[in-house]
Amino acid sequence: MQIYKAKNYEQMSRIAANIISSQIILKPDSVLGLATGSTPIGTYAELVKRYQNGDLDFSAITSINLDEYKGLPGTNDQSYRYFMNTNLFNHVNINKEHTYVPDGLEPDSDKACSAYNAIIHQHGGGVDLQLLGLGHNGHIGFNEPSDAFDKETHCVDLSERTIEANARFFENKDAVPKQAYTMGIQTIMNAKKVMVIVSGKDKAEIVKKAFFGPITPQVPASALQLHQDFVLVGDEEALGLI
Ligand code: GLP
Repeated sequence: MQIYKAKNYEQMSRIAANIISSQIILKPDSVLGLATGSTPIGTYAELVKRYQNGDLDFSAITSINLDEYKGLPGTNDQSYRYFMNTNLFNHVNINKEHTYVPDGLEPDSDKACSAYNAIIHQHGGGVDLQLLGLGHNGHIGFNEPSDAFDKETHCVDLSERTIEANARFFENKDAVPKQAYTMGIQTIMNAKKVMVIVSGKDKAEIVKKAFFGPITPQVPASALQLHQDFVLVGDEEALGLI
Protein backbone atom coordinates (compact mmCIF):
# COMPACT_ATOMS: atom_id res chain seq x y z
CA MET A 1 0.00 0.00 0.00
CA GLN A 2 1.25 3.44 -0.89
CA ILE A 3 0.03 6.36 1.22
CA TYR A 4 -0.05 10.04 0.27
CA LYS A 5 -0.77 12.40 3.13
CA ALA A 6 -2.20 15.74 2.03
CA LYS A 7 -2.50 18.86 4.16
CA ASN A 8 -6.16 19.36 3.38
CA TYR A 9 -9.04 18.48 1.03
CA GLU A 10 -7.73 20.72 -1.78
CA GLN A 11 -4.31 19.11 -1.77
CA MET A 12 -5.86 15.63 -1.55
CA SER A 13 -7.90 16.49 -4.66
CA ARG A 14 -4.82 17.67 -6.54
CA ILE A 15 -2.81 14.55 -5.68
CA ALA A 16 -5.70 12.31 -6.78
CA ALA A 17 -6.05 14.33 -9.99
CA ASN A 18 -2.28 13.98 -10.59
CA ILE A 19 -2.55 10.20 -10.39
CA ILE A 20 -5.59 10.06 -12.69
CA SER A 21 -3.93 12.52 -15.09
CA SER A 22 -0.79 10.42 -15.36
CA GLN A 23 -2.93 7.37 -16.08
CA ILE A 24 -4.70 9.26 -18.90
CA ILE A 25 -1.46 10.66 -20.31
CA LEU A 26 0.41 7.34 -20.21
CA LYS A 27 -2.55 5.36 -21.57
CA PRO A 28 -4.96 7.63 -23.47
CA ASP A 29 -7.47 4.79 -24.01
CA SER A 30 -7.62 3.83 -20.32
CA VAL A 31 -10.71 2.36 -18.73
CA LEU A 32 -11.34 4.38 -15.57
CA GLY A 33 -13.49 3.11 -12.72
CA LEU A 34 -15.16 6.21 -11.32
CA ALA A 35 -16.90 6.98 -8.04
CA THR A 36 -19.41 9.43 -6.63
CA GLY A 37 -19.93 10.97 -3.18
CA SER A 38 -18.71 14.28 -1.85
CA THR A 39 -15.04 13.26 -1.64
CA PRO A 40 -14.25 13.08 -5.40
CA ILE A 41 -15.93 16.39 -6.30
CA GLY A 42 -12.65 18.33 -5.91
CA THR A 43 -10.73 15.70 -7.87
CA TYR A 44 -13.16 15.97 -10.80
CA ALA A 45 -12.98 19.79 -10.66
CA GLU A 46 -9.16 19.53 -10.93
CA LEU A 47 -9.45 17.19 -13.92
CA VAL A 48 -11.85 19.61 -15.63
CA LYS A 49 -9.38 22.45 -15.03
CA ARG A 50 -6.55 20.46 -16.58
CA TYR A 51 -8.73 19.57 -19.57
CA GLN A 52 -9.62 23.24 -20.04
CA ASN A 53 -5.92 24.13 -19.87
CA GLY A 54 -5.32 21.71 -22.73
CA ASP A 55 -3.31 19.27 -20.60
CA LEU A 56 -5.71 16.30 -20.73
CA ASP A 57 -7.56 14.52 -23.51
CA PHE A 58 -10.50 12.28 -22.61
CA SER A 59 -11.49 11.44 -26.19
CA ALA A 60 -10.36 7.80 -26.04
CA ILE A 61 -11.22 7.22 -22.36
CA THR A 62 -13.91 4.79 -21.21
CA SER A 63 -15.43 5.09 -17.75
CA ILE A 64 -17.30 2.47 -15.80
CA ASN A 65 -18.94 3.76 -12.64
CA LEU A 66 -19.20 1.80 -9.45
CA ASP A 67 -22.83 2.06 -8.54
CA GLU A 68 -26.28 3.61 -8.95
CA TYR A 69 -29.40 3.92 -6.84
CA LYS A 70 -32.11 1.49 -7.90
CA GLY A 71 -35.20 3.36 -9.03
CA LEU A 72 -33.63 6.71 -9.95
CA PRO A 73 -33.55 7.85 -13.59
CA GLY A 74 -30.37 9.50 -14.85
CA THR A 75 -32.24 12.80 -14.99
CA ASN A 76 -32.85 12.78 -11.22
CA ASP A 77 -30.37 15.16 -9.63
CA GLN A 78 -29.51 12.59 -6.97
CA SER A 79 -28.73 9.80 -9.42
CA TYR A 80 -25.10 8.94 -9.89
CA ARG A 81 -25.45 9.33 -13.68
CA TYR A 82 -26.53 12.93 -13.09
CA PHE A 83 -23.63 13.43 -10.66
CA MET A 84 -21.08 12.18 -13.19
CA ASN A 85 -22.53 14.28 -16.01
CA THR A 86 -22.56 17.48 -13.97
CA ASN A 87 -19.23 17.03 -12.17
CA LEU A 88 -17.15 15.63 -15.02
CA PHE A 89 -18.58 14.29 -18.27
CA ASN A 90 -20.34 17.50 -19.39
CA HIS A 91 -17.12 19.47 -19.02
CA VAL A 92 -14.54 17.27 -20.80
CA ASN A 93 -14.29 15.70 -24.25
CA ILE A 94 -15.21 12.17 -23.17
CA ASN A 95 -17.49 10.27 -25.56
CA LYS A 96 -20.71 9.91 -23.51
CA GLU A 97 -21.38 6.57 -25.23
CA HIS A 98 -18.25 5.31 -23.52
CA THR A 99 -19.43 6.27 -20.03
CA TYR A 100 -21.20 3.50 -18.15
CA VAL A 101 -23.32 3.64 -14.99
CA PRO A 102 -25.66 0.81 -13.86
CA ASP A 103 -29.20 1.30 -15.14
CA GLY A 104 -31.11 2.49 -12.06
CA LEU A 105 -34.36 2.37 -13.99
CA GLU A 106 -34.15 -1.36 -14.71
CA PRO A 107 -36.51 -2.86 -12.09
CA ASP A 108 -35.32 -6.42 -12.69
CA SER A 109 -32.17 -6.66 -10.54
CA ASP A 110 -30.83 -9.78 -12.27
CA LYS A 111 -31.21 -8.14 -15.65
CA ALA A 112 -29.58 -4.87 -14.53
CA CYS A 113 -26.64 -6.66 -12.89
CA SER A 114 -25.94 -9.14 -15.68
CA ALA A 115 -26.07 -6.33 -18.26
CA TYR A 116 -23.51 -4.38 -16.24
CA ASN A 117 -21.29 -7.43 -15.73
CA ALA A 118 -21.36 -7.99 -19.49
CA ILE A 119 -20.08 -4.42 -20.02
CA ILE A 120 -17.28 -4.97 -17.48
CA HIS A 121 -16.30 -8.27 -19.13
CA GLN A 122 -16.29 -6.65 -22.56
CA HIS A 123 -13.67 -4.28 -21.18
CA GLY A 124 -11.35 -6.97 -19.94
CA GLY A 125 -13.02 -7.68 -16.60
CA GLY A 126 -11.06 -5.05 -14.72
CA VAL A 127 -10.48 -1.33 -15.12
CA ASP A 128 -7.04 0.31 -15.39
CA LEU A 129 -7.54 2.65 -12.46
CA GLN A 130 -10.35 2.43 -9.93
CA LEU A 131 -11.15 5.53 -7.88
CA LEU A 132 -12.99 4.91 -4.59
CA GLY A 133 -14.41 6.88 -1.69
CA LEU A 134 -14.95 5.21 1.67
CA GLY A 135 -18.22 4.89 3.56
CA HIS A 136 -18.25 5.34 7.35
CA ASN A 137 -18.98 1.64 7.79
CA GLY A 138 -16.19 0.64 5.41
CA HIS A 139 -18.32 0.31 2.31
CA ILE A 140 -16.79 0.82 -1.12
CA GLY A 141 -19.16 1.44 -3.99
CA PHE A 142 -22.28 0.22 -2.22
CA ASN A 143 -20.71 -3.01 -0.94
CA GLU A 144 -22.13 -2.95 2.56
CA PRO A 145 -20.74 -4.98 5.49
CA SER A 146 -21.80 -8.60 5.01
CA ASP A 147 -20.83 -12.21 5.68
CA ALA A 148 -18.91 -12.70 2.45
CA PHE A 149 -17.08 -10.54 -0.06
CA ASP A 150 -19.49 -10.03 -2.94
CA LYS A 151 -18.19 -10.87 -6.35
CA GLU A 152 -19.69 -9.05 -9.28
CA THR A 153 -22.41 -6.46 -9.79
CA HIS A 154 -25.33 -7.12 -7.46
CA CYS A 155 -28.33 -5.41 -5.89
CA VAL A 156 -27.85 -4.34 -2.26
CA ASP A 157 -30.14 -3.27 0.53
CA LEU A 158 -28.53 -0.10 1.84
CA SER A 159 -27.68 -0.08 5.53
CA GLU A 160 -29.35 2.35 7.94
CA ARG A 161 -26.00 4.11 8.37
CA THR A 162 -25.56 4.64 4.64
CA ILE A 163 -29.15 5.87 4.22
CA GLU A 164 -28.60 8.33 7.06
CA ALA A 165 -25.25 9.51 5.65
CA ASN A 166 -26.73 10.08 2.21
CA ALA A 167 -29.96 11.71 3.45
CA ARG A 168 -28.18 15.11 3.41
CA PHE A 169 -28.44 15.06 -0.39
CA PHE A 170 -32.20 14.33 -0.44
CA GLU A 171 -35.24 16.22 0.84
CA ASN A 172 -35.42 13.86 3.80
CA LYS A 173 -34.33 10.40 4.88
CA ASP A 174 -37.46 8.75 3.45
CA ALA A 175 -36.57 10.01 -0.02
CA VAL A 176 -33.27 8.05 -0.06
CA PRO A 177 -33.65 4.89 -2.19
CA LYS A 178 -33.36 1.73 -0.11
CA GLN A 179 -31.52 -0.30 -2.72
CA ALA A 180 -28.68 0.16 -5.18
CA TYR A 181 -26.80 -1.69 -7.88
CA THR A 182 -23.07 -1.91 -7.25
CA MET A 183 -19.97 -3.54 -8.67
CA GLY A 184 -18.75 -6.30 -6.36
CA ILE A 185 -15.52 -6.53 -4.41
CA GLN A 186 -14.11 -9.01 -6.91
CA THR A 187 -14.67 -6.56 -9.77
CA ILE A 188 -12.99 -3.83 -7.75
CA MET A 189 -10.07 -6.14 -6.89
CA ASN A 190 -9.67 -6.93 -10.61
CA ALA A 191 -8.69 -3.29 -11.26
CA LYS A 192 -5.02 -2.94 -12.18
CA LYS A 193 -4.65 -0.02 -9.79
CA VAL A 194 -6.95 1.15 -6.99
CA MET A 195 -6.96 4.58 -5.37
CA VAL A 196 -9.01 5.41 -2.28
CA ILE A 197 -9.48 9.06 -1.37
CA VAL A 198 -10.51 10.15 2.12
CA SER A 199 -10.99 13.47 3.81
CA GLY A 200 -12.06 14.68 7.24
CA LYS A 201 -11.91 13.61 10.87
CA ASP A 202 -15.08 11.55 10.60
CA LYS A 203 -13.25 9.08 8.31
CA ALA A 204 -10.18 8.61 10.58
CA GLU A 205 -11.53 5.65 12.52
CA ILE A 206 -12.73 3.70 9.50
CA VAL A 207 -9.45 4.37 7.66
CA LYS A 208 -7.57 2.74 10.53
CA LYS A 209 -10.00 -0.16 10.76
CA ALA A 210 -10.18 -0.81 7.02
CA PHE A 211 -6.52 -0.59 6.10
CA PHE A 212 -4.74 -1.52 9.34
CA GLY A 213 -7.26 -3.89 10.92
CA PRO A 214 -8.33 -7.47 10.12
CA ILE A 215 -9.43 -8.30 6.58
CA THR A 216 -13.13 -9.11 6.83
CA PRO A 217 -16.29 -8.70 4.72
CA GLN A 218 -17.72 -6.87 7.75
CA VAL A 219 -15.40 -4.05 6.63
CA PRO A 220 -15.60 -4.38 2.82
CA ALA A 221 -12.73 -1.96 2.09
CA SER A 222 -10.34 -4.16 4.11
CA ALA A 223 -10.10 -6.45 1.04
CA LEU A 224 -7.96 -3.74 -0.56
CA GLN A 225 -5.11 -4.64 1.81
CA LEU A 226 -4.60 -7.61 -0.52
CA HIS A 227 -4.51 -5.54 -3.71
CA GLN A 228 -1.08 -5.40 -5.31
CA ASP A 229 -1.30 -1.77 -6.43
CA PHE A 230 -3.33 0.14 -3.88
CA VAL A 231 -2.87 3.86 -3.21
CA LEU A 232 -4.47 5.70 -0.30
CA VAL A 233 -4.69 9.48 -0.64
CA GLY A 234 -6.00 11.29 2.41
CA ASP A 235 -5.82 14.56 4.21
CA GLU A 236 -4.22 14.92 7.64
CA GLU A 237 -7.54 14.61 9.46
CA ALA A 238 -8.60 11.38 7.74
CA LEU A 239 -5.14 9.86 8.21
CA GLY A 240 -4.91 11.15 11.76
CA LEU A 241 -5.12 7.75 13.47
CA ILE A 242 -2.61 5.82 11.37
C1 GLP B 1 -21.72 6.65 -1.03
C2 GLP B 1 -21.20 6.05 -2.35
C3 GLP B 1 -19.77 5.64 -2.23
C4 GLP B 1 -19.00 6.74 -1.55
C5 GLP B 1 -19.41 6.84 -0.11
C6 GLP B 1 -18.71 7.96 0.67
O1 GLP B 1 -22.64 5.88 -0.37
N1 GLP B 1 -21.95 4.97 -2.87
O2 GLP B 1 -19.25 5.33 -3.52
O3 GLP B 1 -17.61 6.47 -1.59
O4 GLP B 1 -20.82 7.00 -0.02
O5 GLP B 1 -19.23 9.20 0.34
P1 GLP B 1 -18.58 10.56 0.71
O6 GLP B 1 -17.41 10.73 -0.21
O7 GLP B 1 -19.65 11.57 0.45
O8 GLP B 1 -18.16 10.49 2.13
